[in-house]
Amino acid sequence: MPNKFYVTTPIYYVNDVPHIGHAYTTIAADVLARFYRLRGYEVFFLTGVDEHGQKVQQAAAKAGIDPQAHCDQLMPKFKDLWEKLDISQDGFIRTTDAQHQTVVQNCLQALYDKGLIYQAEYTGWYCMFDERFWTEKDVEQGLCPDCQRPVEQVSERNYFFKMSQFQDRLKEHIHTHPAYIQPASRRNEVLGFLQKPLEDLSISRPKSRLSWGIELPFDKACVTYVWFDALVNYFSALEYLGTDSKTPEFWPASIHLVGKDILTTHAVYWSTMLMGMERPLPQSIFAHGWWTVEGEKMSKSRGNVVDPHAMVEQFGTDAFRYFLLREVPFGQDGDFSLNTFHNRYQAELANDLGNLVSRTLAMIGNFSAGLIPAPDPQTETELDHQLRQHASTLFERIEQHLQALEFHRALEAILGLVQSANQYIDKTAPWVLAKDPEKGPRLRTVLFNLAEGLRFLTFAIAPFMPHTADAIKTRLGLTINFLGSSLLQFPTWGEYTYINPVTKGASLFPKKDPPTTDNSQPTSLATSSPPQEEKTAISPPPSQPPLASSDTPLIGIDEFQKVQLKIAKILEAERVPKSSKLLKLQVDIGTEQRQIVAGIGKKYAPEELVGKTIVVVANLKPAKLMGVESQGMVLAAGENEMLGLLGVSENIPAGTKIK
Ligand code: MSP
Repeated sequence: MPNKFYVTTPIYYVNDVPHIGHAYTTIAADVLARFYRLRGYEVFFLTGVDEHGQKVQQAAAKAGIDPQAHCDQLMPKFKDLWEKLDISQDGFIRTTDAQHQTVVQNCLQALYDKGLIYQAEYTGWYCMFDERFWTEKDVEQGLCPDCQRPVEQVSERNYFFKMSQFQDRLKEHIHTHPAYIQPASRRNEVLGFLQKPLEDLSISRPKSRLSWGIELPFDKACVTYVWFDALVNYFSALEYLGTDSKTPEFWPASIHLVGKDILTTHAVYWSTMLMGMERPLPQSIFAHGWWTVEGEKMSKSRGNVVDPHAMVEQFGTDAFRYFLLREVPFGQDGDFSLNTFHNRYQAELANDLGNLVSRTLAMIGNFSAGLIPAPDPQTETELDHQLRQHASTLFERIEQHLQALEFHRALEAILGLVQSANQYIDKTAPWVLAKDPEKGPRLRTVLFNLAEGLRFLTFAIAPFMPHTADAIKTRLGLTINFLGSSLLQFPTWGEYTYINPVTKGASLFPKKDPPTTDNSQPTSLATSSPPQEEKTAISPPPSQPPLASSDTPLIGIDEFQKVQLKIAKILEAERVPKSSKLLKLQVDIGTEQRQIVAGIGKKYAPEELVGKTIVVVANLKPAKLMGVESQGMVLAAGENEMLGLLGVSENIPAGTKIK
C-alpha cells in the first residue's frame, strides 16, 4: 500500500484576479505534491475558488452582473494562472459546484440533528469586510480587531454552532500533537487565543442581508456563513473530484497550507467543526507569512499588487517559482522587490545553475564528441569523492527540509551542489586535461562525474522547476519520467548508463537587463543604480614629477578619465569560428550585458573563463573583429604574447567603476 499525501491550498475568493500571495501558497503546495509523487506516494493536491459570500456578492454588484456570471468570469483567471505556473493540481473545486453544496448542506443537517446548531437572537459588532461578528470586549474604538475597519452594531436571529463545547478538546489536541499547528510561533498564538473562553460560531446569514450563499437545509430564509461553506471544501472535493472511488480515503489531509491571516478559521473553526462531525482532524495546518512589496503592504489602492503573469513574462515560470520559495523562509513575512528577484536570477539561476549546465554540456560536446564517457576508476581523486559525497546526501537533506516546510533550505542545499560542481570544474580544469592525450582517462572520469552531478540536480530540482528539469534531462539524453515515482529510491552515483548523445540547447536562464530606474516612482522598484560618479578627480599634487617612461607620451588626468573602466563578470565564452586567438565573451557590466571579442584564445579555454571577474573598457566604440561585433575591450597583461587577464582578488560586483 503506497503512502498517501493530501495537500490543500486555501480556496481563493473570486472577488479579484489572482496575485502573488495566491501564487505563493499554490506553488508551495505544488512543490510538495510533485516531491511526494516522485517519492512514490499517492498524492491528492487540491486547490480551487471560494465563490460565495459578501465579498463576491459585492464584487459582482460593482461589475453590474449576477454573482454566478461574475464567478464564471473570474474562475478561469485562477485556472489559467495555475496552468502558466505549471501547477499540477489533482482537483480544482468551485464552491458553486452542485455536489459541494450538497455536502455542505448534509454537514449542516447532521450538526443540526445532533443538537450542535441552535438558533438565537444575537446582537454584536459586525465587520462587513471580515463577514463576522465581534463581541463588545473584542472591539476597540469601534474598529474590527482583525482588519481595523469600522464595525457596526447588528441584531439578528442567527444559527450558532456550539464551538465552545470543543474548546478543551481542541486545546488538548494541540498540546498532544505538536505538529498540528505550524510553525511553533503560530501554534502558541492559537493556544493564546484559546486561553479566552471560546464563543459559539454564528454560521448563518439572513438572506435579507446576504443572498449569495448556500441555503440552510433547515431554514430557507438563511444562507450559511461563507467560512462554513468554504472549509468543507477540503473533504467535499474528495467525494466528487477524485479519479476513483478510493479518493475519499485521502481524508484526513496531510497538510493544509494557509496564510497567517486565516489561521484562526482553520485551527479553531475547522478543527471544531470536524470534531462536531466526528471526523478525524488533518495532520497539520501550516501558516505561511505575507509578502510586502518594496517594504509596503501590497494593495490595490497603493497600486503595487504584484501580477504573477508579469513576473513570468519577464523571468519565466521556473524562476518565479524558485524566487518565491528561495527568498523567504515559508513561515515568515517577506519582501518582494524586482531588484532582489533580478539579483537572485542572475547570480543563482543564470550564473550558477545555467552556467554549470552549459559548461558541462559544452565540454562533453568539445572533448568527448557529445557522448558521456565511462569513468576510469584508476584516475579517481579526492575531488571526485567530495562531489559524489555532496550529491549523495542531497536527497535526504531535501526530504528533511520539505518535511519541515523549509523550502528555502531545500533550495539552498540544491544550490550548494551546483556551486560544488562549478568548483569541481575549476579545480579539475578539463580544458587542460583535454590538451594532453595521456590525461584522457582522467578527462573521462571528470566529464562522467559532471554528468552525474547534473543528473542528480535534475531530480532535485524537478519539484521546484519542472520545466528546467525536463530541459536538462533532454539535453543530457536521460530517459527518466518525472511524473512517475522515480525518486522512490534516491539515485545512486554511477548507477546510470548513459547511451544518448548530449545536446547543447539555448541558454536555460537568458540574461536579463536589471530593472530600470523609474523616476516617477521613488520606491525601490527602481534598480540600485550604479553609484554616482565622483565629480572630484583625484589629481596628483602639482609639484609631483611626471611618472611615465620617456617613450610614452604623457596624458592628463582629464584624458585618462575619458576611459571608463569597469569590473565585469564573464557569463559565457566561446571561440570565434576559424580563429585560434579570438574568443567571444558575454559579460555582465552591472547595468547591462555586453559582447566583447578578445584575443585571449591561446591562453584560455572558453570554459575556464566563465564566472571570472575581469576589468573592461566600457566606453570603447564598437568594432568588428572577424565579422563579430565587440562592444568594449578586456584588459590583459602582455605585449607580444598575452600573459593573463586583469582581475580583482576581492569579490567586487560587476559594474563597479574603477577610478
Ligand atoms: N477564501 C478564503 C480562504 C478560504 S479557505 C477554506 C480567503 N481567500 S483570499 O483569496 O482572500 O486569500 C487567500 C490566501 O491568500 C490566504 O491564505 C492569504 O493569506 C493569502 N494572501 C493574500 N495576500 C497575501 C500576501 N500579500 N502575501 C502572502 N499571502 C497572502 O481568505
